[in-house]
Amino acid sequence: MTPEAARTRVVAPSSVVRPGALLGVVGGGQLGRMFVAAARRLGYRVAVWSDDPDAPALAAADVPLAAAYDDPRALAAFTTDVAAATVEFENLPSATLEAIARRIRLRPGPAVVAATQHRAREKRALRSLGVPLAPYVEVGPARDPASALADAVAHVGRPAVLKTAGFGYDGKGQVRLEAEGAWPEEALRLVADGPCVVEAFVDLTAELSVVVARAADGTTRAFPVAENVHRDGILDLSVVPARVDVQAAERASELATSVIAGLGVVGLACVELFLTRTGDLWVNEVAPRPHNSGHATIEACAVDQFEQQVRALTSLPLGEPALVRPAAMANLLGDLWVSGEPSWAEALAVPGVRLHLYGKRVARPGRKMGHLTALADDPSTAADLVLRARSALVGGAATAPPTPSGAAADPRERGPGSTEPGGTTTPDRGTG
Ligand SMILES: Nc1ncnc2c1ncn2[C@@H]1O[C@H](COP(=O)(O)OP(=O)(O)OP(=O)(O)O)[C@@H](O)[C@H]1O
Ligand SMILES: [Mg+2]
Repeated sequence: MTPEAARTRVVAPSSVVRPGALLGVVGGGQLGRMFVAAARRLGYRVAVWSDDPDAPALAAADVPLAAAYDDPRALAAFTTDVAAATVEFENLPSATLEAIARRIRLRPGPAVVAATQHRAREKRALRSLGVPLAPYVEVGPARDPASALADAVAHVGRPAVLKTAGFGYDGKGQVRLEAEGAWPEEALRLVADGPCVVEAFVDLTAELSVVVARAADGTTRAFPVAENVHRDGILDLSVVPARVDVQAAERASELATSVIAGLGVVGLACVELFLTRTGDLWVNEVAPRPHNSGHATIEACAVDQFEQQVRALTSLPLGEPALVRPAAMANLLGDLWVSGEPSWAEALAVPGVRLHLYGKRVARPGRKMGHLTALADDPSTAADLVLRARSALVGGAATAPPTPSGAAADPRERGPGSTEPGGTTTPDRGTG
């Protein structure tokens, strides 16, 4: 198809792509797999484009396309049949996304993905919108990394966190710069190699996240605010509604919605926030796609994040993301497989617990293999239940205390520094 002919296929923003059409998702991880499930429930067919032939979303696709993201034949095939496409992870080549968007509807658009895939660009975009951020400076690549780091912490103070600008996920590419002491070798190497940011280490009361959908006409819908506990830089537990005061939750929701509108997102995205000990809300980062902390919406809300992603993409009316029941979600990392297959029956014997497995064949430490969700009358009980179920997976009694992995159900019970970034495991390339 010539570029001109292809361009004529772009549909007007408000026109509905009806059930029966072929939708597309670029990226093959679990977020893509759950998008496929939601889209098929609504009567769509789905093409998945992934560069990994073993990707979990490919196995679920109506039309699987396993090819490099810069393969022109794959681009032609994808954009010939797909009516509208979305992304399920952000580390995709901008040229590919721009080419897709010239030919068919792509939500969120390439500019949003480009901004959010690079920490420095993302922070600049947020700062220009007046969004509150932790103090940070850009640094590297530097000939003299030690003095570059010294200059950086002169601005943001210590302790701080060094983060590579690109390709970070699940705390990868991050090094903590302690309150004192020599620069870690890894920090010096990262700053010598490429662009990074150094940001103040935030004294947190809680980590929050808000998934927001925005339609082409500017209508927004925010999901209930989730409260997140990380371990080794990887999300461990997510509880909804967040156990913070009502005003803080309202401010988080409003701030996240204004960020999504300000960035011009059409589609669905997630804003991660820090609630500081002094009550400030600072945006950590934006993911231009569904989010791991939004998985509980599948059971907890009147519409879930994946169906909402489909609706925003197809210009169907956005659903009301009201909370139906408090819930908690616990990630299942590959570490749970070290002594063999986890005891699924034990976990599912816990009342109110649901199991989601992503169909990944190889369990590696730190790799997101699935998650559990528990529903209950209140979020703390849901957290207790889901942690109890996860404990039961590896031989813990289903009645064991609900802290199998060291993560407290209630973040107020955590000691400082329990969410330190910079894990040492090697999971996937990582999405949500
Ligand atoms: N400045 C900071 N102060 C305190 N904790 C931090 C800071 N930066 C990151 N963290 C902790 O590390 C976690 C991961 O950091 P961040 O979200 O920046 O990385 P990521 O690799 O993009 O993670 P993901 O893609 O999984 O969300 C945060 O959720 C938080 O728990
Ligand atoms: Mg993050």
